[in-house]
Amino acid sequence: MVTFFLLVLLFILHLLLLNPFLAMCQIGREGEWCLLHSSIGISSMHMQLLHNNKVVMFDRTDFGPSNLSLAYGHCWYDPSDNVLKNDCTAHSLLYDIGTKTFRPLMVETDTWCSSGAVLLDGTLVQTGGYNDDDHVVRTLAPCNDDSCDWVEFPGYLSERRWYATNQRLPDGRIIIIGGRRQFNYEFYPRKSESSPSFWLEFLRETRDDDENNLYPFVHLLPDGNLFIFANTRAISLDYKQNRVVREFPSITTNDPRNYSRSGLSVLLPIDENEPIEAEVMVCGGAPRGAFSRAKQGIFDAASRSCRCIKVTDENPSWAMEDMSMPRVMGDMILLPTGDVVIINGAESGTTSWEIGQNPVTRPVIYKPHEVEDIRFSVMSLVTRPRMYHSSAVLLTDGRALVGGSNPHPYYNFTGVQ
Ligand SMILES: *[C@@H]1O[C@H](CO)[C@@H](O)[C@H](O)[C@H]1NC(C)=O
Ligand SMILES: *[C@@H]1O[C@H](CO)[C@@H](O)[C@H](O)[C@H]1NC(C)=O
Ligand SMILES: *[C@@H]1O[C@H](CO)[C@@H](O)[C@H](O)[C@H]1NC(C)=O
Repeated sequence: MVTFFLLVLLFILHLLLLNPFLAMCQIGREGEWCLLHSSIGISSMHMQLLHNNKVVMFDRTDFGPSNLSLAYGHCWYDPSDNVLKNDCTAHSLLYDIGTKTFRPLMVETDTWCSSGAVLLDGTLVQTGGYNDDDHVVRTLAPCNDDSCDWVEFPGYLSERRWYATNQRLPDGRIIIIGGRRQFNYEFYPRKSESSPSFWLEFLRETRDDDENNLYPFVHLLPDGNLFIFANTRAISLDYKQNRVVREFPSITTNDPRNYSRSGLSVLLPIDENEPIEAEVMVCGGAPRGAFSRAKQGIFDAASRSCRCIKVTDENPSWAMEDMSMPRVMGDMILLPTGDVVIINGAESGTTSWEIGQNPVTRPVIYKPHEVEDIRFSVMSLVTRPRMYHSSAVLLTDGRALVGGSNPHPYYNFTGVQ
């Protein structure tokens, strides 16, 4: 009896102290899900946490009218928008974690499949995008009132950047790598009016049949060089001298990550003890030919394999492990504990409009320091699919925020998968 009351008391304390949102949550031993909003009017294709505990969310400007209006009287006109030239709806918003409220932001250029990174002062720099907006740089500086909004710099980039990858560098600059049919990289801020871009033959060599090499995986290594993974190959790049320092063994041929945008990668947390060891993990993705087969209605099972490589080893090789289930188009989140959550995505098909199938409704957690058999475990079920164009970020209190998913080329709120 005493134990029972103690448990009840502990539970109430937990309610009061630990989680003010618990009332809306499904509790489970493998984590809990809380639905914050059933709709925010746009689809969070991209999300970035800012240092003042607000999250900027955005999708694309040529989806048609969203279900979130801009402030009264605010509209914008884009003659090259294929769907809606005069638009008074928002395609971006700023979400306040503390109050669970949001306000629309005004982004006029198309952020579809753009890429970003955050400067040392906390400003989000978002680069490239679709159509005639693929040379745009946009910034969003955090503010604690309602004054901040996107500031856009058309024509800033030297090359078009659609599906590029960005990484902040130790000197505070941002490197922007690749993108559709771009086998080169450039930096933000640029040095002068015409900033050069630097050729990277590796990106050309790893392109697919359609000359694509989308969203390569990029990690900053402890020695200051960049790990870049594309297709089945990986290198370490000295971007200061535009020199490939070394090429790692390629991931074996039975599970290529051609559509690098559909597999996942993370640099595992680095222990400060000498010698410094850095390990990169690459998981999931779609098998060779999955895209063309999916277009014919045949949806291949996604890959369930994960591979890890200790990039600081003299002769590194890829170690193989299996996730608890296959996954394509997922997201990876590093937790403060050093564990990795693998979340969102599909079990079959691949990345593109309408061709992902069988949503993976359970995240898995990967504990790098556990023994092999229990490194992966399955977390709580969620009922909402999060597939193509979904996103996930870690919040400052250790929760993961997930959003988005729109496999359709418009905002269709009802009557679609
Ligand atoms: C993957 O890349 C190889 C070589 O670059 C190419 O032959 C193959 O068709 C690609 N697969 C897909 C699904 O694009
Ligand atoms: C989705 O939206 C588009 C554009 O508004 C429309 O043409 C299409 O018919 C919609 N599809 C469905 C299934 O509602
Ligand atoms: C659109 O927004 C309104 C509130 O502004 C809400 O009542 C409605 O349910 C939303 N529709 C959809 C389909 O999300």
